[in-house]
Amino acid sequence: MTKFPRSREDAQNMDRTDPLAHLRAAFDLPVGLTYLVGHSLGPAPRSALKNLQAAAQREWASGLVGSWNSADWINLPARTGARIAPLIGVAPDEVTVCDSVSINIFKLAGSLIKAGETAPRLIVEKGEFPTDQYIISELSSLQNAELVHAEHDDGLSVLSAGGVLVKSLVDFRSGKVMDVEAAEQTARDANGAIVWDLSHATGVLDLNLADWGAKFAVGCTYKYLNGGPGAPGFLYVSEDRTHALRSLLPGWLGHARPFAFEDSYEPSNGVTRFISGTPPILSTASLYGALDLFDGLQTSDLEQKANRLGDMCLARFAELGLVSNSPAIGRPRGGHVSIHHADGYAVSRALFERGVHTDFRSPDIIRLGLSPLVLSYEQVWLALEELADILDSESWKDPRFQVRQKVT
Ligand SMILES: Cc1ncc(COP(=O)(O)O)c(C=O)c1O
Repeated sequence: MTKFPRSREDAQNMDRTDPLAHLRAAFDLPVGLTYLVGHSLGPAPRSALKNLQAAAQREWASGLVGSWNSADWINLPARTGARIAPLIGVAPDEVTVCDSVSINIFKLAGSLIKAGETAPRLIVEKGEFPTDQYIISELSSLQNAELVHAEHDDGLSVLSAGGVLVKSLVDFRSGKVMDVEAAEQTARDANGAIVWDLSHATGVLDLNLADWGAKFAVGCTYKYLNGGPGAPGFLYVSEDRTHALRSLLPGWLGHARPFAFEDSYEPSNGVTRFISGTPPILSTASLYGALDLFDGLQTSDLEQKANRLGDMCLARFAELGLVSNSPAIGRPRGGHVSIHHADGYAVSRALFERGVHTDFRSPDIIRLGLSPLVLSYEQVWLALEELADILDSESWKDPRFQVRQKVT
């Protein structure tokens, strides 16, 4: 029987025994606000702000260019990647921080096609996060590789004939989760490869990529990792596959000897070969500080709490007659749940006015992000009460909630 709160008292009781409860105080969130958007932009941890301030003031303003050595800025992407590695279940030297998810997909999927170890076919599904679709489509014409724009959920069956599939582990709309182990078996049988987009998975799910046989992944750091707006992405390549791959954007800082300033390119030994140019030190410093929060945490605790919060939401949605396309109660799920509502945008604005922040995805999806570090069970319970009241009173019909902002 799935355990999730069925009353406010239940929620309070679960908060009392929540092993993550103490971490809520680590965030700089306005009082009285319920932040259900940690799946989009994680809120600011004090440890991130502190490290950012130190990097700006002490290292940049005072240390100046010498900080590349004295503060070890030059190795900050690899040092930060090493702190992400345990959260996805791989070795510390198999992850580096660099660029954005979009660019990392380009570099990694492109390098797999270029290596020629699999059929020259790039596969991406309709309904996949748009950047993944756009990048793969353009890459296929640049590399003269076949493009298969598969139907939603059909990517794996296409992969069974070989190629490179780019696939989100957690669907950004529904929160549906892929079975990585089974998918990797398909990839191995077909001599193909999967580049996992972990953007909605890292920092909220119990990920064991190495055990599951996953070899390649990218992800963002501004959602559940709370690295800050525009914090750089990360890239993972299993150690046994790195040597065969050359980045499609081979910049000087991915060179084996960047400060030898050689005319020809020789990739560095490890995953850092995927670094192109100068890393964004300030935003990486913010991310590095944010990762303090995860020290000593069990990723299974993160997943369990996110699932319980999701189950609680789904039970309430059903009572309210709301349709959700998220995996059902008791099923594996990412950290967010979605509801369909024809006037979802107006409902999300009405919630916002009551201090409950959600986001909206066209055409009719309200997403509730359930970051396990940030939220209490009771807070989410009360947010659902606000939702029920907004629907019951139809207060969302007020004209001021109908005006669309640029970012939804
Ligand atoms: C699944 C997924 N992939 C990629 C991105 C965006 O990547 P980028 O960091 O390049 O903006 C997002 C952003 O929300 C995402 O949810």
